[in-house]
Amino acid sequence: MTVDLDRIARANLREMGDIRIDDVLSFIDRGIENMPSYMDLYRRWEAQQWAVSDLDFTLDRQDWLEATDLDRKATLWSHRLFFNGEERVTATLAPFVWAAPTPEMEIFLSTQMVDEARHTVFFDRWWHEVAGTDAKNLGELLVEIRPDANEGYNELFYDRLPSTAQRLASNPKDFDAFVEGVTLYHIVIEATIALTGQRFELESMRDQGLNDRGFYKGFTAVARDESRHVSFGIKVLQEAVREDGERYAPLIQKTLVECLPLISGTLDPPDPSYVTEFGYTESEIVAYAMESLNKRLRAIGINLAA
Ligand SMILES: [Fe+2]
Ligand SMILES: [Fe+2]
Repeated sequence: MTVDLDRIARANLREMGDIRIDDVLSFIDRGIENMPSYMDLYRRWEAQQWAVSDLDFTLDRQDWLEATDLDRKATLWSHRLFFNGEERVTATLAPFVWAAPTPEMEIFLSTQMVDEARHTVFFDRWWHEVAGTDAKNLGELLVEIRPDANEGYNELFYDRLPSTAQRLASNPKDFDAFVEGVTLYHIVIEATIALTGQRFELESMRDQGLNDRGFYKGFTAVARDESRHVSFGIKVLQEAVREDGERYAPLIQKTLVECLPLISGTLDPPDPSYVTEFGYTESEIVAYAMESLNKRLRAIGINLAA
């Protein structure tokens, strides 16, 4: 079946309930054959605006009140990782904008900052209206939901990501740092970890007939934003490898090899039933993540063989 990419590209929030995540992600794969320019990605951003305030979480709240304990625990585990992660990537992107080697990249990355802020607000609203919280502001809520007991996650979001951003802020002309940063941010965190988590959660909601919920629509819009971000990352690294493969391919490979255990660490639930309950296995999820990573690497023009 051919996917109607134009329909997905133009869909508004109301129509997101009819859209499957796999079809949204096929934009990235199509891009690989025919890479959009940075300004094409900018124009897509202009055409794909959506507002958190347009979502309706009434049914989501009803589901929450009727959910089993296991359901709630599994959802909270996933949403804590996402919510905190969205805020972390919002906070650390500005140095990438400064370090962008061309104005076209700078413009695209500025749109991405707005997206990441919107994704953070999406989870803030979900927390207030669905899960519930007494937190008085976003800062308090982020402290309340910060994921615990996950070494891989902590190392990625509290060590590697801020230190990469700091390295770029200290020396925005350091293109090696930019290449390593895009590998970490766009390829490891967004393309491999976030899109894998999103894919399994959205497919599980769809299997349960919950694709008319506010969360499903908003999270699908988030995934469509991520498909632009990932395309940007692939393009940056593909260009770097084409320009000087001997220099940049080993830099990208080194970053990936260091991050591999953190990927499975982050995706690994504290209780296996958080995924088996919904018909999946941990190894299936990690295998999907690795397969997506390998697809992106082929597009960039490298492989993982050390
Ligand atoms: Fe995001
Ligand atoms: Fe993103």
